[in-house]
Amino acid sequence: MALLKIRVWPDPVLKKKGEKVTVFDENLRQLLEDMAETMYANKGIGLAGQQVGITKRILVCDVPLDEQEKKTTGLMFLINPEIVGKNGKIVFKEGCLSFPGLEIEIERASNVWVKFQNVDGEEKELEASGLFAVCLQHEIDHLDGIVFVDRVGPVKRRLALREFQKLMKEQEEKRTLNPSD
Ligand code: CO
Repeated sequence: MALLKIRVWPDPVLKKKGEKVTVFDENLRQLLEDMAETMYANKGIGLAGQQVGITKRILVCDVPLDEQEKKTTGLMFLINPEIVGKNGKIVFKEGCLSFPGLEIEIERASNVWVKFQNVDGEEKELEASGLFAVCLQHEIDHLDGIVFVDRVGPVKRRLALREFQKLMKEQEEKRTLNPSD
């Protein structure tokens, strides 16, 4: 197991489309396990290949289903995921490990049907709603080189990117003052 380096905006890899996975081997499993470890270490609920510099159509997620009972979907590996159906609307304040500290409200479908392959290459299908649906749409966007600020209008996008640059500058200044961090 190894922690991977998270790619932060504007890393160009975040704009790259992922390639379809055709080889389901031990390397793929190891990579997904490293991605899961990296996601948990950064308190994320989903992580796509691009976010660790890998342009393959792979994602990992573990999404809370009910905050009070602390139930989650459990750790999931989705390979070559594809949204085959969606309906409804949900507005949720999203975050992204590639935009640390930034949160923006985004409207997405509230229900999605997703086709994917598991680590053994078997074809699977799932239905997701609420936060799970939001997370899958967010992560599948990453696989197409789309980040969450691309899902809002141009004015909101500009404001969000400006806010993020400010956040990054503040973090940079903090690091300069406390080099041991
Ligand atoms: Co993200």
